[in-house]
Amino acid sequence: MDGVVAHTLVSPETGMEEVFAQRPGLRHVFFGGKGGVGKTVMAGACASWLAEQGRRTLLASTNPVHSLTSLLDQDVYGRATPVRGVPNLFAYEIDTRETIERSKRDISEKIRWFLKYADIPTRADAFVEAATMSPAFEESAMFENMVNIIMEDAYEAYVFDTAPTANARRLLGMSRVYSLWVNKMLKSREEAMAMRAALSFRKKAPEKDPLLEYLVAFGNRIKNANALLTNADTTAFFFVTLPEALPIAVIRRFIGWFRDFGIPVGGVIVNGVIDRSQLTADTSEFVLNRVAMQERYLAEIHETFPNVCAVVPLFETEVRGVDMLRRVARVLFGQGN
Ligand SMILES: Nc1ncnc2c1ncn2[C@@H]1O[C@H](COP(=O)(O)OP(=O)(O)OP(=O)(O)O)[C@@H](O)[C@H]1O
Ligand SMILES: [Mg+2]
Repeated sequence: MDGVVAHTLVSPETGMEEVFAQRPGLRHVFFGGKGGVGKTVMAGACASWLAEQGRRTLLASTNPVHSLTSLLDQDVYGRATPVRGVPNLFAYEIDTRETIERSKRDISEKIRWFLKYADIPTRADAFVEAATMSPAFEESAMFENMVNIIMEDAYEAYVFDTAPTANARRLLGMSRVYSLWVNKMLKSREEAMAMRAALSFRKKAPEKDPLLEYLVAFGNRIKNANALLTNADTTAFFFVTLPEALPIAVIRRFIGWFRDFGIPVGGVIVNGVIDRSQLTADTSEFVLNRVAMQERYLAEIHETFPNVCAVVPLFETEVRGVDMLRRVARVLFGQGN
């Protein structure tokens, strides 16, 4: 025991271990929430617990800041790296810039090819720019990358510290629009190809159509991503909040969106709760005020969200290194502190 005792004001209805016990196939786990609430810490703790259960686990982050490298005190940038001291655990801080650049190159090739193919006498640059210069493009590139990692199927469990939440709604909404668009494009491409073939005098093999191939592949990836994200047997999003107004408002919104899109929510984790048992007669008014505030918000959280699965205390230090992660995992998975 390291000083701070896990203290739950209202006993959680379903602990993390129960969520996993109820869904034995659960293997794609995401953590979302407002900036700075402890998403990386919770993702790390969850991943280390899964690894300790004997599952080959990948903890991946698409956060552009080097958060995992700092959390684990080990360079895990750019490739999946075995985490020292935790068998079965691999961590991977994805190189966001490289991922985005690769996607840009890919799409601009396709656009150039298409303009040439369709005999459209326009410089491709403006099109390429319009297609790639938006945050939505970057986000969808990162998202695709994440789906690709999962599709490679090299691990038994995946824990993503990606916060694909800030613009998740837009992204998911976009994926519906994409599907419609891709299907329409496919149809008209097929018609155009059939027409070409019919009008062609020469009997040569139909030429390869990279755009069509791209659209088919893209359509399939979207289908896969949607299927993966909405499968409640395998996927769950956990939302992390502090007992404070803004982070609560953020997750309330996220959870509403996720429900709308049929994405399974695993539960809510409340982080940073000051342990009452630490209070003494000498505790300053400053601290007492904060404790009182937290209690009000905790009550609100329990009223608002029926699926609170863990209440994590504010520790006496920041959370770094695998020993500290194990300590957080013990709180998350209900084995005390
Ligand atoms: N329960 C806790 N007790 C003490 N320190 C904590 C606790 N939870 C998180 N921290 C510390 O708070 C800081 C923020 O945590 P973390 O990096 O996990 O947040 P985040 O939600 O991932 O942030 P970002 O949005 O920037 O990615 C870190 O320094 C972490 O060590
Ligand atoms: Mg983080």
